[in-house]
Amino acid sequence: MSPFRLTRTLPEDATDAALRADVLAGLTSTPKWLPPKWFYDARGSELFEEITALPEYYPTRAEREILADRAGEIAAATGARTLVELGSGSSEKTRILLDALTGLRGYVPVDVSESALTQAGQALVAERPDLQVHALIADFTGGLTLPGTPGPRLVAFLGGTLGNLLPGERAAFLAAVRALLSPGDALLLGTDLVKDERVLVRAYDDAAGVTAAFNKNVLSVVNRELDADFVPAAFEHVALWNAEREWIEMRLRSRTAQTVKIQALDLAVDFADGEELSTEVSAKFRQEGVRAELAAAGLELAHWWTDGEDRFALSLSVAR
Ligand SMILES: C[S@@+](CC[C@H](N)C(=O)[O-])C[C@H]1O[C@@H](n2cnc3c(N)ncnc32)[C@H](O)[C@@H]1O
Repeated sequence: MSPFRLTRTLPEDATDAALRADVLAGLTSTPKWLPPKWFYDARGSELFEEITALPEYYPTRAEREILADRAGEIAAATGARTLVELGSGSSEKTRILLDALTGLRGYVPVDVSESALTQAGQALVAERPDLQVHALIADFTGGLTLPGTPGPRLVAFLGGTLGNLLPGERAAFLAAVRALLSPGDALLLGTDLVKDERVLVRAYDDAAGVTAAFNKNVLSVVNRELDADFVPAAFEHVALWNAEREWIEMRLRSRTAQTVKIQALDLAVDFADGEELSTEVSAKFRQEGVRAELAAAGLELAHWWTDGEDRFALSLSVAR
């Protein structure tokens, strides 16, 4: 079996410092907010996997359909010898690409979730003894340095995760990805598309309440890591469509007036009855918007593929 390497690019105390800084900034702001990367401890990663199988959550199935249809074209267009995947999670859909990229030598999954990277990486090296898997525990928004691996490289960013970044963050992220690309490298980007509001809201507010549990998991992360006393049941999961920004907003609405203590920050946070804490946006895209954002980052859209119902798009772009 080929070795599975796991590298932490940030020391654990830097992650702790980042969580403290985000919680302090977000919970003392008006309106209150927390960044979505803190959803993903081991439980959060498990809950996300459950979400991907929900009947209401179409993005994973739609993106898998495109990958299955287009993996051969992606392989032919890129000739990738290294696949770098940002926010790789379970790497489940990635297997379709790994099968199609016949010249592939190495796979570099990058994620903040150590449990997701370990599970996915160990399964992959067991299944594919010839593949070198070098997983990186890293924040893809924070100055990524990749291991020296053979080119051409294909950088994949799937799952519509780009939509979880705010517009300014997206621009900075795409510019940073562009800076990672050498001539001959490419970016494979999955973007969820604007569609009927009811379909969108249902995807983020499922009948079984799995997305609600995922949303509230961030409170459990803050309780455990920063010795806080959030009562998740005292908050209601909210998902709504912002038609002007064309994004879904996930929030946690306080069911009552309450004060939450965060011991590690020596902080008491007051919530008014009905006050909302913003936890994630999930922007939905149109082809022209994606093309323009890529172009602003120095990337040229070369292919645009959608599923049979035009719900989701995969695009392949190259450095200009
Ligand atoms: C929406 S999920 C998508 C997972 C997978 N790519 C898919 O398509 O099913 C987002 C993934 O990105 C990871 N993630 C979120 N924010 C991150 C960040 N700032 N840096 C690195 N990974 C991050 C999460 O742990 C999670 O695995």
